[in-house]
Amino acid sequence: MSSQAVRLVVLVSGSGTNLQALLDAAADETYGARIVAVGADRPGVEGLARAERAGVPTFVERLADHPTREEWDLGLAARIAPYEPDLVVCAGFMKILGAPTLEAFPVLNTHPALLPSFPGAHGVRDALSYGVRVTGCTVMLADAGVDTGPIIAQEAVPVLDGDDESSLHERIKTVERHLLVETVGRMAREGWTVTGRTVRFGRPGG
Ligand code: GRF
Repeated sequence: MSSQAVRLVVLVSGSGTNLQALLDAAADETYGARIVAVGADRPGVEGLARAERAGVPTFVERLADHPTREEWDLGLAARIAPYEPDLVVCAGFMKILGAPTLEAFPVLNTHPALLPSFPGAHGVRDALSYGVRVTGCTVMLADAGVDTGPIIAQEAVPVLDGDDESSLHERIKTVERHLLVETVGRMAREGWTVTGRTVRFGRPGG
């Protein structure tokens, strides 16, 4: 594996199918990025098991083990830092990150709706209850808000008659995994610039 590859720390809270897509992509060294660690906010999740099966180091930082949210934020950043990531990827990580992580590393997030519509923990359910005919997924840079960071990539997914939250989320996740892999790969290989809310691939002046 190339030592030039961009170093990723991936954060998960659940099944980790987005993580798996990144693990699979990064197995090819031409991808340009490799996963150096996977972290979670809870033990026993399938995302951690996926990392272990792939031989990737893991860590767990539970909010319940800290007296305050601020101390959890510091604890999480301290767990990430030794892996010296070039990019932190939240792949179904169900916590808002605090300043210690956001100020230390660029952080990418993925969301199962077309932001700025339907931010938050129930993006699929909220889009379905609103009655939209098209929803989708968004890959964005994370900031201190709830799904408010600059958008990097989006893809639409139609809502079908008879969809429930689960069927719609599964169809979105198929598209989301592909979009996340493509976006992280391009960022790793091409670099990126942020101007206001606009994110572009390519190095400054390139
Ligand atoms: C994804 O749709 C992510 O955007 C959302 O939760 C899902 C995580 O799926 N926040 P997985 O754990 O990667 O399978």
